[in-house]
Amino acid sequence: MDDTLSAELIARDLNTRVVGRRVEYLERVGSTNDVAAQFADAGDAEGLVVIADEQTQGRGRMKRAWLAPAHSSLLLSILFRPRARHAQIAMAVALGASKGITKEIKRAVQLKWPNDLLLNGKKCAGILTEAKTIGDKIEYVIAGVGVNVNFHAADLPDIPRAATTLSDELDAFIPRVQLAQSILRGIDDYYARFSGGTDLDSEWKARLATIGQRVRAQIESRIEEGIAENVDREGALLLRRADGTIAKLIAGDVTLIA
Ligand code: BTN
Repeated sequence: MDDTLSAELIARDLNTRVVGRRVEYLERVGSTNDVAAQFADAGDAEGLVVIADEQTQGRGRMKRAWLAPAHSSLLLSILFRPRARHAQIAMAVALGASKGITKEIKRAVQLKWPNDLLLNGKKCAGILTEAKTIGDKIEYVIAGVGVNVNFHAADLPDIPRAATTLSDELDAFIPRVQLAQSILRGIDDYYARFSGGTDLDSEWKARLATIGQRVRAQIESRIEEGIAENVDREGALLLRRADGTIAKLIAGDVTLIA
């Protein structure tokens, strides 16, 4: 099946307000986040989407690599120039991407703190937001979205065990242009709500599968265990330790424990 990506196909009938106002397709890049940052530094307006078929230096959170075989996935970055509340951009992107994926594949997608998207309990997509600030002012935020689409996770020995792909879970081939458009529309919708002054943290919190669960969190070499009790408005996870004290986690990885 022809699954060619192009800027023209993605931008055609996209009908978004901001996200995807300009789409830049590149077949092979180091990281779409880096390319988007270069465009941002050169003055591109917010809403720019950089999408690639292959990354040679794809980055995940916590300095990890993000792996995807060429032509198999969605690897894209969006440029935002918000006035404030950078933490909410990641929430808008997570909520919007999960809405877009759900619409396209007709399956519920869960969120896992901080910004993983899960299908059947396994990670199918991740989000990496990187901001450039000058003093207190946010110059821009780049939100990178990686979705595992049409490959077998088992064929990539270095991919984490808890990862999956949409085609593995659905046992079907997923056309990437429609999926990309659906994701961009979902993100545009939540970004419009955010720009209009809506706080996204309560919806984000309500969608987090992590809340109320007993979890183990790894923050670099430190391990914390407890009940994931709440998140704050900045997206930090509040973990109730066994001794009753609260650990506030700004970044890290959590796994559910029985
Ligand atoms: C994570 O879950 O660790 C975040 C993964 C983010 C991957 C995407 S792929 C497109 C963009 N470019 C990158 O180098 N990373 C993000």
